[in-house]
Amino acid sequence: MNTYRYWFWNFSPKEARFWEKIPIFAYWTLVYRNDVNQLSVKLKKQEKMDFLELTRNRYSCRNYQSKVVEQDKMDYIMECVRLAPSACNKQPWRFRILTEEEELKKASQCYNREWFAAAPVVIIASILHDEEWIRADNKHHGDIDIAIAVEHLCLAAAEQGLGTCWVCNFDAEGCKKFFGLGENEEAAVLIPLGYPADEPKDKIRKTMSEIIG
Ligand SMILES: Cc1cc2nc3c(=O)[nH]c(=O)nc-3n(C[C@H](O)[C@H](O)[C@H](O)COP(=O)(O)O)c2cc1C
Repeated sequence: MNTYRYWFWNFSPKEARFWEKIPIFAYWTLVYRNDVNQLSVKLKKQEKMDFLELTRNRYSCRNYQSKVVEQDKMDYIMECVRLAPSACNKQPWRFRILTEEEELKKASQCYNREWFAAAPVVIIASILHDEEWIRADNKHHGDIDIAIAVEHLCLAAAEQGLGTCWVCNFDAEGCKKFFGLGENEEAAVLIPLGYPADEPKDKIRKTMSEIIG
C-alpha cells in the first residue's frame, strides 16, 4: 500500500485525503465564518434601540428583582453620567452608589416604600453647591446640571435593560445625616436601580401642540 510520509508520520491514502482537506476547512472558517460573524454584529447593531425607542423604554420602575447588577453595567452607566454636560462644565455633583444591605436600609428610611427597599442598588445624586455655576442674576444651575446627569443615568440604565426611578420626595435632611454629606452638598435625587420585575407603562404626556409655541 502507498504511504505518504510527513516528517515522522506515515499516512495511508485515506488519511492523506482527510488531512489535505484541513487547509480548505481552515480557510472556510476564516473567510466564511467571518462573514457570518460580521452579519451577527450587524444584526446586533440593528437590534439596538434608537433614541426615540430608548426614551419610550425608560419608565419609572417601581418593582425590582433582587438580582445583582453586573459591575460592567454599572461602569458603563456611570461613564454616561460622567460625560453629561453642565453649566460652565463645573460638574458640581457627586454620586454615592449604595449596594450594601446596611446602606440600602438607611436609604429606605429616607424614602419608605416597599418597592424602593427591594432595589439592589440605590444611587444618591447630590449637588455640590460650592462648585455650581451661578449666573449674574444669582440663578444657581446645580439643579439643572444634576437633572441632566441623572437622566443620562436613567437612559443608560434603560439601554442596559435596567430599571430606574427618579425619587425626589424623600427626607433630604435625614439622607444628609445618614450618609455624612458635606456641608455644601445637597442630596437632590435618589435613584433605585435594578432588573425590573414589572413592565413599562403607557406614557401619559401632553400633546405636541400643547408643548410647542
Ligand atoms: C424630578 C422628578 C422627581 C420625581 N420624584 C418621584 C418620587 O419621589 N417618587 C416616585 O415614585 N416617582 C417620582 N418621579 C417619577 C415621576 O412620577 C414619573 O417620571 C412621571 O410620572 C412619568 O412617568 P415615567 O417616568 O414612567 O415616564 C419623579 C420624577 C422626576 C422627573
